[in-house]
Amino acid sequence: MQSSKIERSGLQIDVFPTREEASAAAADEVEALLRKKDSVNLGLATGSTPLPFYRELVRRHREEGLSFAQMEGFNLDEYEGLPSEHPESYDSFMQQQLYAHIDARESHLLPGIYQNAEEACRAYEEKIVEKGGLDWQLLGIGGNGHIGFNEPGSPVDSRTRRIELDERTRRDAVKQFGTLEKVPLAALTMGIGTILEAKRIVLMAWGAGKAGILQKALQGPVTAEVPASFLQTHGNVRILIDEEASQG
Ligand code: GLP
Repeated sequence: MQSSKIERSGLQIDVFPTREEASAAAADEVEALLRKKDSVNLGLATGSTPLPFYRELVRRHREEGLSFAQMEGFNLDEYEGLPSEHPESYDSFMQQQLYAHIDARESHLLPGIYQNAEEACRAYEEKIVEKGGLDWQLLGIGGNGHIGFNEPGSPVDSRTRRIELDERTRRDAVKQFGTLEKVPLAALTMGIGTILEAKRIVLMAWGAGKAGILQKALQGPVTAEVPASFLQTHGNVRILIDEEASQG
């Protein structure tokens, strides 16, 4: 497998010819953790970006017998107002793409339906701590530089909370929901501070459409206006991208 490395502000950036090869590199990291540790907490992401990664994990489970029995997953975020069985909920997404096909110990997701957002978010934070923290966090990047649903303006020390979605984010989601009216107005998301507490972070991005925002996030100033730029401060972050996404 061919990849080229770029070192930048403490970030390891690996450029692969294809997203499948980049996803296999991420799967290698997860496999190594599963083979080494009795308990592995993965922070997981949704969207189109991680699809080849989840396919690769499922393939390793089916074809190579890789066991996920000591893995627990914690998703980054969930749309407000969607019951878990809604086809566009991140709960449904995770079931379809991953959990229905592997033997994970437990999956944790923020709720789409709740009585009290603050309580639901606090319980999620407590659960992460109780389980020993996140060993490995997967991220995609939104068109406006968001990670999870931490929209521009999210502070570096933000915790899991309710957030109103940006117009841009909602427009990007029309391809899944069909019309803008159907896209939820808000979500619950892990905070930037929550994400930065993960021991290791892997961000993936594919295609020319992500090149501009990636360049801002990785080379530009560290600012809440581009939430992914906070990754420059973490110290154990790997960026996996394809060649098109590297042309920013
Ligand atoms: C949503 C998710 C993010 C994801 C982003 C990009 O906003 N909450 O976690 O990174 O979409 O989506 P895609 O991977 O489809 O480009």
